[in-house]
Amino acid sequence: MRLVGKSAIVTGAGRGIGKATALRFAREGADVLVPDLDLASSQAAAKEIQALGRKGVPMQMDVTRMADIHRMVETAVREFGKIDILVNNAGIVIVRDLLELTEAEWDRTMDVNAKAVFFCLQAVAREMVKRKTGVILNASSVSGRVGRPMLVDYCASKFAVVAITQSAALALAPHGIRVNAVAPGIVDTDMWVKIDREWGTLAGKPPGEMKRTRVEAIPLGRIETPEDVANLYTFLASDEASYITGQTYNVCGGLQLN
Ligand SMILES: NC(=O)c1ccc[n+]([C@@H]2O[C@H](COP(=O)([O-])OP(=O)(O)OC[C@H]3O[C@@H](n4cnc5c(N)ncnc54)[C@H](O)[C@@H]3O)[C@@H](O)[C@H]2O)c1
Repeated sequence: MRLVGKSAIVTGAGRGIGKATALRFAREGADVLVPDLDLASSQAAAKEIQALGRKGVPMQMDVTRMADIHRMVETAVREFGKIDILVNNAGIVIVRDLLELTEAEWDRTMDVNAKAVFFCLQAVAREMVKRKTGVILNASSVSGRVGRPMLVDYCASKFAVVAITQSAALALAPHGIRVNAVAPGIVDTDMWVKIDREWGTLAGKPPGEMKRTRVEAIPLGRIETPEDVANLYTFLASDEASYITGQTYNVCGGLQLN
């Protein structure tokens, strides 16, 4: 029980890595606000948290809307009285030939994956500085470490997350707030179903083929689970990580980053 008495926000917690992280935080003793674009999945996640004996609070929001970000912070403060942990998990991906990527696609990826990470961080940090304590964790990716030909916007957004993490860690350290990021590899969620479908279409491969060949390249010999990522988030959120800030940690089964 590493997070007893803590309250957390996990964005995009309706499914995938966000949901696994929110549930794990609850098992570790935390109350969790679980905002998501999709209300039904947010409500389902909140119910599972409540079944674990913790406060689980659902909320529909779009992380790219400033009004929603402020409502998210107000809701957490109203429900919990404080915010100890923010996980900026919500994210999207599109697989596109670089020559075909549109301005609207570029903007949406950067808005959700990078701009919203910063403005959620800023809004929550304004609350955390009052108590001189807090932990902010951001979702980067192994695609925030190296470029990839059909993920130029996604890679740009995930590299940006590393920069936001480093800058915010420096700015917020004097306020007792730690900021770190995680860089997962190939995680078994809906996001990889989409990547496989779009990448396979571009490469002329049947469904499942792109994912299978990528998974075969993972040194630890299996696909990553959302819980593998939740393990790292939990450690970084806990007091065991009290001397760690400004870092981005790979959790990718030893995947070679090329
Ligand atoms: N799946 C992977 O292999 C992988 C690898 C590296 C990093 N990541 C990152 O981890 C995070 C979670 O990925 P996942 O695989 O669980 O994705 P997912 O697609 O399974 O789930 C993403 C969740 O975010 C929500 N969301 C999307 N846009 C939103 C918005 N504008 N506002 C609020 N909620 C929104 C979705 O509704 C969904 O519940 C993302 O930031 C992703 O880029 C994933």
